[in-house]
Amino acid sequence: MIRVGIVGLGYWGPNLVRCFTDLEDCKVTSVCDQNCDQLLRMKDRFPSVYPIENYDQLIERDLVDAVVIATPTETHHELARKALERDLHVFVEKPLAKTVAECRDLVDLAAHRNRCLFVGHVFLHSSPVLKLRELIESDELGNISYISSRRLNLGPVREDVSALYDLAPHDISMMLYLLDRKPMSVSCSGFDRLNPGIHDVCNLTMTFEGNQMGMIHVSWLDPRKERVLTVVGDKKMATYDDLEQEKIKVYDKGIDKPVKTSGDYADFQLAYRHGGSYSPFIKEREPLKAECAEFIRCITEGDVPLTDGVNGMDVVEVLEAAQRSLESGGQPILLDSLRDLPVDVA
Ligand SMILES: NC(=O)c1ccc[n+]([C@@H]2O[C@H](COP(=O)([O-])OP(=O)(O)OC[C@H]3O[C@@H](n4cnc5c(N)ncnc54)[C@H](O)[C@@H]3O)[C@@H](O)[C@H]2O)c1
Repeated sequence: MIRVGIVGLGYWGPNLVRCFTDLEDCKVTSVCDQNCDQLLRMKDRFPSVYPIENYDQLIERDLVDAVVIATPTETHHELARKALERDLHVFVEKPLAKTVAECRDLVDLAAHRNRCLFVGHVFLHSSPVLKLRELIESDELGNISYISSRRLNLGPVREDVSALYDLAPHDISMMLYLLDRKPMSVSCSGFDRLNPGIHDVCNLTMTFEGNQMGMIHVSWLDPRKERVLTVVGDKKMATYDDLEQEKIKVYDKGIDKPVKTSGDYADFQLAYRHGGSYSPFIKEREPLKAECAEFIRCITEGDVPLTDGVNGMDVVEVLEAAQRSLESGGQPILLDSLRDLPVDVA
């Protein structure tokens, strides 16, 4: 039985406590938060779980085999590193860390210690995203031209990281998974109205080999909540609206360019295809619970997770490039330029 300790009981951590508590192959033995009030709240809900204020004590005493880190991003590298040094398996909430160099350090350490390093890219455990990947792999959509997404809402505003680091990891992880590759370059623009240097709105563009694109619009300063991802292929198009009951819709729509034959006017007419649409059946499951179960399965069976440290590093590589682009007025940044930067290990 894997003993799990969950660190960080703010907004997100309690969801992880609930999901891990429901699993049969593990036992949540301890929860940790440096804020005593958060610990007390959990004590009421989960009286059998041992609360602890000090993270070092949690990992030094023989209380857990694995830690789940749901603290602010800037603490991820330090907390994950300490756990791996104690030979614990580690689940880190997205994004894995602030920089590629920090991620690489964790990936190397996890490999050296032979421990599971798992990143909380929850959408890669959601049935609609798996269905989209199936539609792409089966060639139902044809060659993918681009994927775009909008993740908008009024709040919640964070002060530790920008909307780019808070919201875009979800869309980046989905796009990299759906296109099964990393982008070649990233550009990003946005603005910071509420807190200088912490962008409230960002528009990120990724260019991929094979003339494919990914466009992401994230904002916590928008009147409407939207969670929509659109995949445009040359055969069909599909949308994933996370707020709808029928989350995936496949459209038999497109624009075809006729092959030139004679040079007549008709040769240059585009053919618009307005076919029907359908919503494929999707077996619903709670993505967060599936994600937690996958972490435990990977530990138990010694499997490499889909959302392993390298996958987490790929997402942070895009974020870091986007941040650089943001700071340089939207200049495109080539991804390979970030791999060799040194890590500043505290
Ligand atoms: N997967 C998702 O959909 C999703 C959603 C929300 C947040 N998150 C991620 O979860 C993480 C936490 O986000 P949040 O919104 O819950 O943050 P939060 O600020 O609400 O909570 C963080 C908690 O961590 C505690 N903490 C900070 N440093 C600590 C330390 N050294 N030791 C012990 N406790 C410490 C704080 O006291 C606080 O209670 C972030 O990485 C965020 O990106 C993921």
